[in-house]
Amino acid sequence: MKKVIVSAPGKSIFFGEHAVVYGVGAIAAAISLFTTCEITSTKANNIQLNLENYSQTFEFTDLEDMGMNLPIKFKPLSRGFQLFNQRYKIDFKNINIKISSQLFRSSGLGSSASTAVALVGALNRYYGLNLEREKISNHAYEIEKIVHGTPSGIDNTICTYGNLIYYKNKQFEPLIIPFNSQLLITFTNMAHDTKKAINKVRTFRTNNPEKCEQIFQEIHSIVLEAKNALNAADLKTLGSLMVSNQELLTEIGVSNSIIDKIVKISLENGAYGSKLTGAGLGGCVITLGNDKILKNISTILETEGFPSFSVPIDKVGLRVHDEK
Ligand code: PMV
Repeated sequence: MKKVIVSAPGKSIFFGEHAVVYGVGAIAAAISLFTTCEITSTKANNIQLNLENYSQTFEFTDLEDMGMNLPIKFKPLSRGFQLFNQRYKIDFKNINIKISSQLFRSSGLGSSASTAVALVGALNRYYGLNLEREKISNHAYEIEKIVHGTPSGIDNTICTYGNLIYYKNKQFEPLIIPFNSQLLITFTNMAHDTKKAINKVRTFRTNNPEKCEQIFQEIHSIVLEAKNALNAADLKTLGSLMVSNQELLTEIGVSNSIIDKIVKISLENGAYGSKLTGAGLGGCVITLGNDKILKNISTILETEGFPSFSVPIDKVGLRVHDEK
């Protein structure tokens, strides 16, 4: 029996979401919550797909069958298989693919990108293609296009390479990580729809071109200042830049009352900064502070009913675990 196990981290955008879609720089970190893809050879002459988080398993006679019968919400996965079939002439048979994730879905933590990268990484490993990370990230980008049309590419990049990066126009540079665990992630209890949020920003931009351009330029300045603050390990400045970024995200219409409430509670209780992360309109909020402050804020937010947890930055990105 042949088996490969590959996983990819989730992510959090610290600065510049949405603006990054229009070519503005952004800063993102990989977080230590993972999507794992396990591929095992089977005797059955078919493709078995086990999506653990959805408690759903599927069996397909071939790729065409998968394309026709996999429910529409899992279409990005079928795009991944098609891509490998077209580019590398792989005729999928006799395999069982199991995918499981520690990430909340539709929460701004990159569950779709993390899944795409883990799947591409696992197919690469199982079929011995020896693809470079860059290629893996590019293939994951193709899958991400199915998820929300015009992705900036930041999600597949950070989930592939890990660490903390500055990203702009499909190029990235690693940044020094100035802290260990002082990042709190709080779930609004509202799944968000990335496509909807992106469309909302697009409409805002169409209706207010000058205003939107000015906001994106301000976000650009924040991102550049944040790069300097990260280099100087100046967490307080980083926090206040988060607050400024959050205000601009509110102006373009992607915050909401729950996000505002979490940010407010965090700031009132001593956080250096707090903002939505990812597409917004739900999803998660990130909060920066010292460990003691964050512990207290986390307790308060949990009491208010918001799941709240600290996660370290993942410094590895896509990784292979085990094979037989
Ligand atoms: O919420 P997520 O994880 O889908 O992140 C979306 C980030 C955006 O900047 C809004 C879109 C993108 O492609 O960069």
